[in-house]
Amino acid sequence: MAAIRYNDINTTPVWAKLHQHQRATRHLHMRDLFAQEPDRFDRMNVQLDGLLLDYSKNRLTERTLELLIELAETADLAGWMQRMKGGERINVSEDRAVLHTALRLPRSASLEVDGVDVVRQVHEVLERAYAFADAVRDGRWLGYTGQRITDVVNLGIGGSDLGPLMVHEALAPYWHPALRVHFVSNVDGAHIARTLQQLDPATTLFIVASKSFTTPETRLNAEAARSWFLQYAGVADIAKHFVAVSTNREAVTTFGIDPANMFPFWDWVGGRYSTWSAIGLPVMLAIGPKCFAEFLDGGRAMDEHFFSAPFSVNMPVLMALIGVWYNTFYGAHTHAIMPYDHGLRRLPAHIQQLDMESNGKQVGRFGEKLDFDTGPVIWGEEGVNSQHAFFQLLHQGTRLVPSDFIVPMNSHYPVDHQHAVLVANGFAQTEALMRGKNEAEALAELATLNLSGEQIDMLLPQKLFPGNQPSNTLAVDKLTPRSLGKLLALYEHKVFVQGVIWGINSFDQWGVEYGKQLAAKILPQLTNEQALSHDASTNGLIAHFRSCYEQ
Ligand code: F6P
Repeated sequence: MAAIRYNDINTTPVWAKLHQHQRATRHLHMRDLFAQEPDRFDRMNVQLDGLLLDYSKNRLTERTLELLIELAETADLAGWMQRMKGGERINVSEDRAVLHTALRLPRSASLEVDGVDVVRQVHEVLERAYAFADAVRDGRWLGYTGQRITDVVNLGIGGSDLGPLMVHEALAPYWHPALRVHFVSNVDGAHIARTLQQLDPATTLFIVASKSFTTPETRLNAEAARSWFLQYAGVADIAKHFVAVSTNREAVTTFGIDPANMFPFWDWVGGRYSTWSAIGLPVMLAIGPKCFAEFLDGGRAMDEHFFSAPFSVNMPVLMALIGVWYNTFYGAHTHAIMPYDHGLRRLPAHIQQLDMESNGKQVGRFGEKLDFDTGPVIWGEEGVNSQHAFFQLLHQGTRLVPSDFIVPMNSHYPVDHQHAVLVANGFAQTEALMRGKNEAEALAELATLNLSGEQIDMLLPQKLFPGNQPSNTLAVDKLTPRSLGKLLALYEHKVFVQGVIWGINSFDQWGVEYGKQLAAKILPQLTNEQALSHDASTNGLIAHFRSCYEQ
Protein backbone atom coordinates (compact mmCIF):
# COMPACT_ATOMS: atom_id res chain seq x y z
CA MET A 1 0.00 0.00 0.00
CA ALA A 2 1.34 3.45 -0.90
CA ALA A 3 2.61 5.62 1.92
CA ILE A 4 0.33 8.47 2.82
CA ARG A 5 1.12 11.79 4.38
CA TYR A 6 0.54 11.25 8.05
CA ASN A 7 -1.68 14.22 8.62
CA ASP A 8 -4.11 12.34 6.39
CA ILE A 9 -4.54 9.26 8.55
CA ASN A 10 -7.75 10.54 10.13
CA THR A 11 -9.26 11.20 6.72
CA THR A 12 -8.67 7.68 5.41
CA PRO A 13 -11.64 5.35 4.84
CA VAL A 14 -10.37 2.87 7.44
CA TRP A 15 -10.34 5.58 10.11
CA ALA A 16 -13.99 6.30 9.42
CA LYS A 17 -14.76 2.58 9.33
CA LEU A 18 -13.17 2.14 12.75
CA HIS A 19 -15.29 4.94 14.22
CA GLN A 20 -18.37 3.39 12.72
CA HIS A 21 -17.38 -0.06 13.94
CA GLN A 22 -16.84 1.30 17.45
CA ARG A 23 -20.36 2.75 17.45
CA ALA A 24 -21.78 -0.51 16.18
CA THR A 25 -19.99 -2.74 18.70
CA ARG A 26 -19.64 -0.66 21.85
CA HIS A 27 -22.69 -2.32 23.43
CA LEU A 28 -21.03 -5.76 23.23
CA HIS A 29 -19.98 -7.19 26.56
CA MET A 30 -16.87 -9.34 26.73
CA ARG A 31 -18.69 -11.75 29.04
CA ASP A 32 -21.06 -12.50 26.14
CA LEU A 33 -18.23 -12.71 23.63
CA PHE A 34 -16.53 -15.35 25.79
CA ALA A 35 -19.82 -17.24 26.16
CA GLN A 36 -20.29 -17.27 22.39
CA GLU A 37 -16.67 -18.05 21.52
CA PRO A 38 -15.25 -20.92 23.56
CA ASP A 39 -12.07 -20.76 21.48
CA ARG A 40 -11.54 -17.04 22.13
CA PHE A 41 -8.40 -17.55 24.20
CA ASP A 42 -6.96 -19.98 21.61
CA ARG A 43 -7.51 -17.44 18.84
CA MET A 44 -6.38 -14.43 20.83
CA ASN A 45 -3.06 -15.35 22.31
CA VAL A 46 0.45 -15.15 20.89
CA GLN A 47 3.45 -16.95 22.31
CA LEU A 48 7.12 -16.30 21.84
CA ASP A 49 9.64 -18.48 23.56
CA GLY A 50 8.28 -18.38 27.12
CA LEU A 51 6.26 -15.19 26.80
CA LEU A 52 2.52 -15.41 26.26
CA LEU A 53 0.31 -12.46 25.38
CA ASP A 54 -3.36 -13.12 26.09
CA TYR A 55 -5.33 -10.31 24.46
CA SER A 56 -8.68 -12.09 24.49
CA LYS A 57 -10.04 -9.96 27.37
CA ASN A 58 -10.42 -6.95 25.10
CA ARG A 59 -13.42 -5.35 23.42
CA LEU A 60 -12.52 -6.91 20.11
CA THR A 61 -14.16 -8.94 17.41
CA GLU A 62 -12.43 -10.49 14.43
CA ARG A 63 -13.65 -7.52 12.41
CA THR A 64 -12.06 -5.05 14.86
CA LEU A 65 -8.72 -6.75 14.38
CA GLU A 66 -9.11 -6.78 10.60
CA LEU A 67 -9.82 -3.06 10.59
CA LEU A 68 -6.96 -2.25 12.96
CA ILE A 69 -4.56 -4.21 10.77
CA GLU A 70 -5.89 -2.34 7.75
CA LEU A 71 -5.14 0.87 9.66
CA ALA A 72 -1.55 -0.28 10.26
CA GLU A 73 -1.19 -1.07 6.57
CA THR A 74 -2.66 2.28 5.61
CA ALA A 75 -0.10 3.99 7.84
CA ASP A 76 2.63 2.04 6.03
CA LEU A 77 3.76 0.38 9.23
CA ALA A 78 5.85 -2.20 7.37
CA GLY A 79 7.68 0.59 5.55
CA TRP A 80 8.42 2.48 8.77
CA MET A 81 9.65 -0.71 10.44
CA GLN A 82 12.12 -1.18 7.61
CA ARG A 83 13.14 2.48 7.73
CA MET A 84 13.89 2.23 11.45
CA LYS A 85 15.69 -1.10 11.14
CA GLY A 86 17.79 0.12 8.21
CA GLY A 87 19.02 3.25 10.00
CA GLU A 88 17.10 5.91 8.06
CA ARG A 89 16.90 9.24 9.83
CA ILE A 90 13.31 8.81 10.98
CA ASN A 91 13.82 11.14 13.94
CA VAL A 92 13.32 14.02 11.55
CA SER A 93 13.22 16.93 13.98
CA GLU A 94 16.69 16.00 15.27
CA ASP A 95 17.84 14.54 11.95
CA ARG A 96 18.89 11.26 13.56
CA ALA A 97 18.58 7.57 12.89
CA VAL A 98 16.78 5.46 15.51
CA LEU A 99 18.81 2.36 16.06
CA HIS A 100 18.34 0.97 19.55
CA THR A 101 17.68 -2.34 17.78
CA ALA A 102 21.31 -2.24 16.53
CA LEU A 103 22.43 -2.34 20.18
CA ARG A 104 21.02 -5.86 20.32
CA LEU A 105 22.49 -7.22 17.09
CA PRO A 106 25.09 -9.99 17.33
CA ARG A 107 28.76 -9.31 16.64
CA SER A 108 28.44 -11.23 13.35
CA ALA A 109 25.91 -8.72 11.98
CA SER A 110 26.74 -5.46 10.31
CA LEU A 111 24.75 -2.31 9.64
CA GLU A 112 26.22 0.66 7.84
CA VAL A 113 25.01 4.14 8.72
CA ASP A 114 26.77 7.00 6.95
CA GLY A 115 29.56 4.64 5.96
CA VAL A 116 30.15 3.39 9.52
CA ASP A 117 29.38 -0.14 10.69
CA VAL A 118 27.44 0.66 13.84
CA VAL A 119 27.37 -2.98 14.97
CA ARG A 120 31.17 -3.01 15.12
CA GLN A 121 31.07 0.22 17.16
CA VAL A 122 28.47 -1.27 19.50
CA HIS A 123 30.54 -4.38 20.16
CA GLU A 124 33.78 -2.45 20.67
CA VAL A 125 32.13 -0.48 23.48
CA LEU A 126 30.38 -3.55 24.85
CA GLU A 127 33.69 -5.39 25.08
CA ARG A 128 35.29 -2.50 26.95
CA ALA A 129 32.33 -2.19 29.27
CA TYR A 130 32.27 -5.95 29.89
CA ALA A 131 36.03 -5.98 30.64
CA PHE A 132 35.54 -3.09 33.06
CA ALA A 133 32.57 -4.79 34.73
CA ASP A 134 34.55 -8.01 35.10
CA ALA A 135 37.51 -6.17 36.61
CA VAL A 136 35.28 -4.49 39.21
CA ARG A 137 33.34 -7.67 39.93
CA ASP A 138 36.49 -9.81 40.29
CA GLY A 139 38.21 -7.31 42.54
CA ARG A 140 40.91 -6.43 40.02
CA TRP A 141 39.77 -2.81 39.76
CA LEU A 142 40.78 -1.30 43.09
CA GLY A 143 40.02 2.00 44.77
CA TYR A 144 42.61 4.57 45.90
CA THR A 145 43.42 2.69 49.11
CA GLY A 146 43.83 -0.61 47.28
CA GLN A 147 40.46 -1.95 48.45
CA ARG A 148 37.95 -3.51 46.10
CA ILE A 149 34.81 -1.69 45.05
CA THR A 150 31.74 -2.55 47.12
CA ASP A 151 29.30 0.16 45.98
CA VAL A 152 28.44 1.64 42.63
CA VAL A 153 26.42 4.87 42.34
CA ASN A 154 24.75 5.67 39.03
CA LEU A 155 24.23 9.41 38.66
CA GLY A 156 21.74 10.04 35.87
CA ILE A 157 18.13 11.00 35.25
CA GLY A 158 15.33 10.10 32.83
CA GLY A 159 16.53 7.54 30.34
CA SER A 160 19.94 7.54 32.00
CA ASP A 161 18.31 6.34 35.21
CA LEU A 162 14.88 4.75 34.89
CA GLY A 163 15.75 1.98 32.42
CA PRO A 164 18.87 0.69 34.17
CA LEU A 165 17.22 1.17 37.57
CA MET A 166 14.22 -0.90 36.55
CA VAL A 167 16.33 -3.65 34.96
CA HIS A 168 18.66 -3.71 37.95
CA GLU A 169 15.75 -4.13 40.37
CA ALA A 170 14.09 -6.76 38.24
CA LEU A 171 17.23 -8.90 38.08
CA ALA A 172 18.04 -8.95 41.79
CA PRO A 173 18.45 -12.75 41.83
CA TYR A 174 21.43 -12.32 39.47
CA TRP A 175 23.29 -9.66 41.45
CA HIS A 176 26.93 -10.00 42.45
CA PRO A 177 26.79 -10.85 46.17
CA ALA A 178 29.37 -8.25 47.23
CA LEU A 179 28.43 -5.30 45.03
CA ARG A 180 25.62 -2.90 45.77
CA VAL A 181 24.33 -0.56 43.08
CA HIS A 182 22.60 2.71 43.98
CA PHE A 183 20.79 5.11 41.66
CA VAL A 184 20.73 8.84 42.32
CA SER A 185 18.62 10.96 40.00
CA ASN A 186 16.78 13.71 41.85
CA VAL A 187 18.35 17.13 42.17
CA ASP A 188 16.77 17.19 45.63
CA GLY A 189 19.91 17.07 47.77
CA ALA A 190 18.27 14.42 49.93
CA HIS A 191 18.83 11.82 47.23
CA ILE A 192 22.60 12.18 46.93
CA ALA A 193 23.13 13.07 50.61
CA ARG A 194 21.24 10.05 51.92
CA THR A 195 23.04 7.78 49.47
CA LEU A 196 26.49 9.10 50.33
CA GLN A 197 25.78 8.70 54.05
CA GLN A 198 25.90 4.93 53.59
CA LEU A 199 29.12 4.86 51.57
CA ASP A 200 32.88 4.66 52.02
CA PRO A 201 34.72 6.76 49.39
CA ALA A 202 37.55 4.21 49.25
CA THR A 203 35.22 1.49 47.97
CA THR A 204 32.70 3.52 45.95
CA LEU A 205 32.59 3.87 42.18
CA PHE A 206 30.51 6.61 40.56
CA ILE A 207 29.06 6.31 37.06
CA VAL A 208 28.10 9.67 35.64
CA ALA A 209 25.49 8.67 33.08
CA SER A 210 24.30 11.40 30.76
CA LYS A 211 23.84 11.25 27.02
CA SER A 212 24.29 15.00 26.66
CA PHE A 213 26.44 15.51 29.76
CA THR A 214 24.73 18.86 30.14
CA THR A 215 21.71 17.83 32.20
CA PRO A 216 21.86 20.08 35.29
CA GLU A 217 20.42 17.53 37.71
CA THR A 218 23.06 14.97 36.84
CA ARG A 219 25.90 17.47 36.72
CA LEU A 220 24.99 18.84 40.16
CA ASN A 221 24.83 15.36 41.65
CA ALA A 222 28.13 14.47 39.99
CA GLU A 223 29.73 17.64 41.39
CA ALA A 224 28.35 16.82 44.85
CA ALA A 225 29.77 13.30 44.59
CA ARG A 226 33.13 14.62 43.46
CA SER A 227 33.29 17.18 46.31
CA TRP A 228 32.41 14.48 48.83
CA PHE A 229 35.06 12.18 47.37
CA LEU A 230 37.73 14.91 47.41
CA GLN A 231 37.22 15.40 51.14
CA TYR A 232 38.93 12.04 51.54
CA ALA A 233 41.06 11.50 48.43
CA GLY A 234 43.15 13.44 45.92
CA VAL A 235 42.34 14.64 42.42
CA ALA A 236 44.57 11.91 40.95
CA ASP A 237 42.35 9.30 42.65
CA ILE A 238 39.26 10.42 40.67
CA ALA A 239 40.33 8.16 37.80
CA LYS A 240 39.76 5.08 39.95
CA HIS A 241 36.38 6.18 41.22
CA PHE A 242 34.58 8.10 38.47
CA VAL A 243 33.61 6.79 35.05
CA ALA A 244 31.22 8.30 32.54
CA VAL A 245 28.70 7.06 30.01
CA SER A 246 27.95 9.72 27.44
CA THR A 247 27.97 10.82 23.84
CA ASN A 248 29.81 14.05 24.80
CA ARG A 249 33.52 13.30 25.14
CA GLU A 250 34.52 16.93 25.46
CA ALA A 251 32.19 17.66 28.38
CA VAL A 252 33.24 14.44 30.13
CA THR A 253 36.89 15.46 29.89
CA THR A 254 36.16 19.00 31.09
CA PHE A 255 34.36 17.54 34.09
CA GLY A 256 37.63 15.81 35.01
CA ILE A 257 36.90 12.24 34.02
CA ASP A 258 39.66 10.46 32.11
CA PRO A 259 38.35 9.73 28.57
CA ALA A 260 39.87 6.27 29.04
CA ASN A 261 37.13 5.79 31.64
CA MET A 262 34.36 6.96 29.35
CA PHE A 263 32.01 4.52 27.65
CA PRO A 264 30.44 6.18 24.63
CA PHE A 265 27.16 5.70 22.86
CA TRP A 266 25.67 7.51 19.91
CA ASP A 267 23.10 10.11 18.95
CA TRP A 268 21.03 7.37 17.27
CA VAL A 269 20.21 5.94 20.71
CA GLY A 270 17.36 7.84 22.37
CA GLY A 271 17.77 8.32 26.13
CA ARG A 272 14.67 6.26 26.97
CA TYR A 273 15.88 3.48 24.64
CA SER A 274 19.45 3.44 25.96
CA THR A 275 19.47 0.76 28.67
CA TRP A 276 20.90 -1.64 26.09
CA SER A 277 23.93 0.58 25.50
CA ALA A 278 26.73 1.49 27.91
CA ILE A 279 23.97 3.23 29.90
CA GLY A 280 23.36 -0.34 31.10
CA LEU A 281 26.79 -0.29 32.82
CA PRO A 282 25.35 -0.38 36.37
CA VAL A 283 23.34 -3.44 35.30
CA MET A 284 26.44 -5.06 33.77
CA LEU A 285 28.28 -4.48 37.03
CA ALA A 286 25.47 -6.01 39.06
CA ILE A 287 24.59 -9.05 36.95
CA GLY A 288 27.81 -9.53 34.96
CA PRO A 289 28.49 -9.55 31.22
CA LYS A 290 27.09 -13.03 30.62
CA CYS A 291 23.67 -12.13 32.01
CA PHE A 292 23.73 -8.75 30.28
CA ALA A 293 24.39 -10.51 26.97
CA GLU A 294 21.33 -12.70 27.68
CA PHE A 295 19.30 -9.54 28.28
CA LEU A 296 20.45 -8.24 24.87
CA ASP A 297 19.59 -11.63 23.31
CA GLY A 298 16.08 -11.37 24.71
CA GLY A 299 15.70 -7.93 23.15
CA ARG A 300 16.94 -9.29 19.85
CA ALA A 301 14.48 -12.21 19.96
CA MET A 302 11.66 -9.69 20.26
CA ASP A 303 13.14 -7.59 17.43
CA GLU A 304 13.26 -10.61 15.14
CA HIS A 305 9.66 -11.44 15.98
CA PHE A 306 8.59 -7.83 15.48
CA PHE A 307 10.34 -7.45 12.13
CA SER A 308 9.16 -10.77 10.73
CA ALA A 309 5.80 -11.91 12.17
CA PRO A 310 2.61 -11.07 10.28
CA PHE A 311 0.72 -8.26 12.00
CA SER A 312 -2.08 -10.62 13.06
CA VAL A 313 0.34 -12.60 15.28
CA ASN A 314 2.85 -9.87 16.03
CA MET A 315 2.92 -9.12 19.77
CA PRO A 316 4.05 -5.49 19.73
CA VAL A 317 1.80 -4.70 16.76
CA LEU A 318 -1.24 -6.27 18.43
CA MET A 319 -0.64 -4.50 21.73
CA ALA A 320 -0.16 -1.21 19.90
CA LEU A 321 -3.27 -1.58 17.77
CA ILE A 322 -5.41 -2.54 20.74
CA GLY A 323 -4.08 0.56 22.50
CA VAL A 324 -4.96 2.72 19.49
CA TRP A 325 -8.45 1.21 19.50
CA TYR A 326 -9.09 2.41 23.06
CA ASN A 327 -7.19 5.69 22.86
CA THR A 328 -8.35 7.00 19.59
CA PHE A 329 -11.67 5.31 18.98
CA TYR A 330 -12.97 4.78 22.54
CA GLY A 331 -11.47 7.98 23.97
CA ALA A 332 -9.73 6.17 26.84
CA HIS A 333 -7.27 8.59 28.38
CA THR A 334 -5.03 6.29 30.33
CA HIS A 335 -3.38 2.90 30.23
CA ALA A 336 -2.34 1.06 33.39
CA ILE A 337 0.64 -1.26 33.79
CA MET A 338 0.38 -3.79 36.62
CA PRO A 339 3.36 -6.07 37.14
CA TYR A 340 2.56 -8.93 39.50
CA ASP A 341 6.18 -9.16 40.46
CA HIS A 342 7.96 -7.17 43.15
CA GLY A 343 11.13 -7.00 41.04
CA LEU A 344 9.19 -5.25 38.28
CA ARG A 345 7.83 -2.56 40.57
CA ARG A 346 9.67 0.17 38.66
CA LEU A 347 8.42 -1.08 35.29
CA PRO A 348 5.41 1.30 35.28
CA ALA A 349 7.76 4.25 35.80
CA HIS A 350 10.04 3.14 32.98
CA ILE A 351 7.17 2.50 30.57
CA GLN A 352 5.70 5.83 31.62
CA GLN A 353 8.81 7.63 30.38
CA LEU A 354 9.19 5.40 27.34
CA ASP A 355 5.61 5.93 26.20
CA MET A 356 4.76 9.42 27.38
CA GLU A 357 8.03 11.06 26.30
CA SER A 358 7.75 9.29 22.94
CA ASN A 359 4.08 9.73 22.06
CA GLY A 360 3.04 12.67 24.22
CA LYS A 361 2.82 14.85 21.12
CA GLN A 362 0.12 17.04 19.58
CA VAL A 363 1.76 17.52 16.22
CA GLY A 364 2.76 15.00 13.59
CA ARG A 365 6.22 14.47 12.22
CA PHE A 366 5.64 17.20 9.61
CA GLY A 367 4.71 19.67 12.36
CA GLU A 368 1.03 19.41 11.44
CA LYS A 369 -1.53 19.72 14.26
CA LEU A 370 -3.14 16.38 14.98
CA ASP A 371 -6.86 16.36 15.24
CA PHE A 372 -7.21 13.28 17.42
CA ASP A 373 -5.96 11.92 20.73
CA THR A 374 -2.48 10.43 20.81
CA GLY A 375 -0.42 8.91 23.62
CA PRO A 376 -2.28 7.91 26.78
CA VAL A 377 -1.34 8.70 30.36
CA ILE A 378 0.64 5.67 31.49
CA TRP A 379 0.49 4.76 35.13
CA GLY A 380 0.49 1.73 37.36
CA GLU A 381 1.79 -0.03 40.39
CA GLU A 382 2.83 -3.51 41.35
CA GLY A 383 0.16 -6.09 42.06
CA VAL A 384 -1.25 -7.01 44.53
CA ASN A 385 -0.59 -3.73 46.33
CA SER A 386 -2.43 -1.87 43.59
CA GLN A 387 -5.57 -3.94 44.26
CA HIS A 388 -5.72 -2.40 47.72
CA ALA A 389 -5.09 1.08 46.35
CA PHE A 390 -6.86 1.94 43.11
CA PHE A 391 -8.63 -1.14 41.76
CA GLN A 392 -11.92 0.04 43.25
CA LEU A 393 -12.03 2.67 40.50
CA LEU A 394 -11.24 0.10 37.82
CA HIS A 395 -14.07 -2.15 39.01
CA GLN A 396 -16.80 0.31 39.85
CA GLY A 397 -15.68 3.74 38.67
CA THR A 398 -16.94 5.45 35.55
CA ARG A 399 -13.76 5.35 33.45
CA LEU A 400 -12.57 3.03 30.75
CA VAL A 401 -9.08 2.00 31.84
CA PRO A 402 -7.30 -0.54 29.62
CA SER A 403 -4.45 -2.28 31.39
CA ASP A 404 -1.60 -4.76 31.08
CA PHE A 405 -1.09 -7.45 33.70
CA ILE A 406 2.45 -8.82 33.69
CA VAL A 407 2.62 -12.08 35.58
CA PRO A 408 5.66 -14.37 35.91
CA MET A 409 4.65 -18.03 36.12
CA ASN A 410 7.58 -18.90 38.36
CA SER A 411 9.25 -17.07 41.19
CA HIS A 412 12.90 -16.85 42.23
CA TYR A 413 11.67 -16.66 45.83
CA PRO A 414 9.57 -19.69 46.75
CA VAL A 415 8.05 -18.63 50.08
CA ASP A 416 5.43 -21.23 51.03
CA HIS A 417 2.69 -20.96 48.36
CA GLN A 418 2.86 -17.16 48.13
CA HIS A 419 3.67 -17.14 44.44
CA ALA A 420 0.47 -19.06 43.67
CA VAL A 421 -1.47 -16.53 45.76
CA LEU A 422 0.09 -13.70 43.76
CA VAL A 423 -0.75 -15.31 40.41
CA ALA A 424 -4.29 -16.21 41.53
CA ASN A 425 -4.84 -12.55 42.41
CA GLY A 426 -3.55 -11.34 39.05
CA PHE A 427 -5.71 -13.75 37.04
CA ALA A 428 -8.73 -13.06 39.26
CA GLN A 429 -8.49 -9.34 38.64
CA THR A 430 -8.47 -9.78 34.88
CA GLU A 431 -11.47 -12.09 35.16
CA ALA A 432 -13.39 -9.74 37.44
CA LEU A 433 -12.62 -6.72 35.27
CA MET A 434 -13.83 -8.57 32.20
CA ARG A 435 -16.94 -10.35 33.59
CA GLY A 436 -18.16 -7.89 36.14
CA LYS A 437 -20.97 -9.04 38.42
CA ASN A 438 -24.53 -8.77 37.15
CA GLU A 439 -27.76 -8.28 39.03
CA ALA A 440 -28.66 -11.96 39.23
CA GLU A 441 -25.24 -12.83 40.65
CA ALA A 442 -25.29 -9.97 43.15
CA LEU A 443 -28.85 -10.82 44.23
CA ALA A 444 -27.93 -14.46 44.73
CA GLU A 445 -25.15 -13.37 47.07
CA LEU A 446 -27.35 -10.94 48.97
CA ALA A 447 -30.01 -13.61 49.35
CA THR A 448 -27.68 -15.62 51.59
CA LEU A 449 -27.37 -12.73 54.06
CA ASN A 450 -30.84 -12.64 55.59
CA LEU A 451 -31.47 -8.99 54.72
CA SER A 452 -34.71 -7.02 54.51
CA GLY A 453 -36.06 -6.05 51.09
CA GLU A 454 -35.16 -2.42 51.84
CA GLN A 455 -31.59 -3.34 52.70
CA ILE A 456 -31.29 -5.39 49.52
CA ASP A 457 -32.58 -2.46 47.43
CA MET A 458 -29.98 -0.20 48.97
CA LEU A 459 -27.08 -2.65 48.67
CA LEU A 460 -27.79 -4.13 45.27
CA PRO A 461 -26.50 -1.24 43.12
CA GLN A 462 -23.35 -1.10 45.24
CA LYS A 463 -22.68 -4.78 44.67
CA LEU A 464 -22.86 -4.54 40.89
CA PHE A 465 -19.70 -4.58 38.80
CA PRO A 466 -20.20 -3.42 35.21
CA GLY A 467 -17.19 -5.37 33.93
CA ASN A 468 -16.16 -5.05 30.27
CA GLN A 469 -12.96 -3.44 31.49
CA PRO A 470 -10.22 -4.55 29.08
CA SER A 471 -6.84 -6.04 29.89
CA ASN A 472 -3.91 -7.79 28.28
CA THR A 473 -2.07 -10.44 30.25
CA LEU A 474 1.61 -11.03 29.61
CA ALA A 475 2.54 -14.36 31.18
CA VAL A 476 6.30 -14.62 31.54
CA ASP A 477 7.73 -18.09 32.27
CA LYS A 478 10.22 -16.65 34.75
CA LEU A 479 11.82 -13.25 35.13
CA THR A 480 15.30 -13.79 33.70
CA PRO A 481 17.65 -11.45 31.84
CA ARG A 482 16.39 -12.92 28.58
CA SER A 483 12.69 -12.68 29.34
CA LEU A 484 13.12 -9.14 30.67
CA GLY A 485 14.90 -8.21 27.43
CA LYS A 486 11.92 -9.47 25.46
CA LEU A 487 9.46 -7.61 27.65
CA LEU A 488 11.30 -4.32 27.39
CA ALA A 489 11.75 -4.54 23.61
CA LEU A 490 8.06 -5.46 23.31
CA TYR A 491 7.04 -2.16 24.90
CA GLU A 492 9.58 -0.19 22.83
CA HIS A 493 8.08 -1.57 19.63
CA LYS A 494 4.53 -1.08 20.85
CA VAL A 495 5.28 2.62 21.37
CA PHE A 496 6.91 2.84 17.93
CA VAL A 497 3.91 1.27 16.20
CA GLN A 498 1.50 3.65 17.90
CA GLY A 499 3.67 6.58 16.87
CA VAL A 500 3.59 5.37 13.27
CA ILE A 501 -0.21 5.05 13.30
CA TRP A 502 -0.62 8.53 14.73
CA GLY A 503 2.07 9.96 12.45
CA ILE A 504 4.22 11.07 15.39
CA ASN A 505 7.98 11.34 15.64
CA SER A 506 8.32 9.18 18.78
CA PHE A 507 12.00 9.96 19.19
CA ASP A 508 12.27 13.64 20.10
CA GLN A 509 11.14 15.31 23.34
CA TRP A 510 10.93 19.06 22.79
CA GLY A 511 8.24 19.34 25.43
CA VAL A 512 10.76 18.77 28.20
CA GLU A 513 12.82 21.79 27.16
CA TYR A 514 10.47 24.63 28.03
CA GLY A 515 10.31 23.88 31.75
CA LYS A 516 14.11 23.64 31.80
CA GLN A 517 14.41 27.12 30.22
CA LEU A 518 12.03 28.67 32.73
CA ALA A 519 13.75 26.95 35.67
CA ALA A 520 17.06 28.42 34.53
CA LYS A 521 15.44 31.89 34.54
CA ILE A 522 13.79 31.45 37.95
CA LEU A 523 16.84 29.98 39.70
CA PRO A 524 18.82 33.25 40.15
CA GLN A 525 15.62 35.13 40.94
CA LEU A 526 15.01 32.96 44.00
CA THR A 527 17.93 34.48 45.83
CA ASN A 528 18.30 38.00 44.41
CA GLU A 529 16.04 40.98 44.71
CA GLN A 530 15.53 41.44 40.99
CA ALA A 531 12.04 42.72 40.06
CA LEU A 532 9.81 39.89 38.86
CA SER A 533 7.93 39.86 35.61
CA HIS A 534 6.18 36.48 35.62
CA ASP A 535 2.46 35.97 36.08
CA ALA A 536 1.05 36.88 39.49
CA SER A 537 1.13 33.29 40.75
CA THR A 538 4.76 32.63 39.82
CA ASN A 539 5.79 36.07 41.13
CA GLY A 540 3.95 35.36 44.37
CA LEU A 541 5.57 31.97 44.81
CA ILE A 542 9.06 33.36 44.19
CA ALA A 543 8.43 36.18 46.66
CA HIS A 544 7.13 33.66 49.20
CA PHE A 545 10.28 31.55 48.77
CA ARG A 546 12.46 34.63 49.26
CA SER A 547 10.69 35.36 52.54
CA CYS A 548 10.97 31.76 53.80
CA TYR A 549 14.34 30.57 52.56
CA GLU A 550 16.79 30.19 55.45
CA GLN A 551 20.16 29.69 53.76
O1 F6P B 1 13.83 14.30 30.19
C1 F6P B 1 14.48 14.77 29.06
C2 F6P B 1 15.70 14.00 28.79
O2 F6P B 1 16.31 14.61 27.71
C3 F6P B 1 15.47 12.52 28.52
O3 F6P B 1 15.05 12.25 27.25
C4 F6P B 1 16.80 11.97 28.88
O4 F6P B 1 16.76 10.59 29.03
C5 F6P B 1 17.07 12.71 30.14
O5 F6P B 1 16.61 14.02 29.89
C6 F6P B 1 18.51 12.74 30.58
O6 F6P B 1 19.33 13.25 29.58
P1 F6P B 1 20.87 12.99 29.56
O7 F6P B 1 21.11 11.52 29.47
O8 F6P B 1 21.39 13.75 28.39
O9 F6P B 1 21.43 13.52 30.87
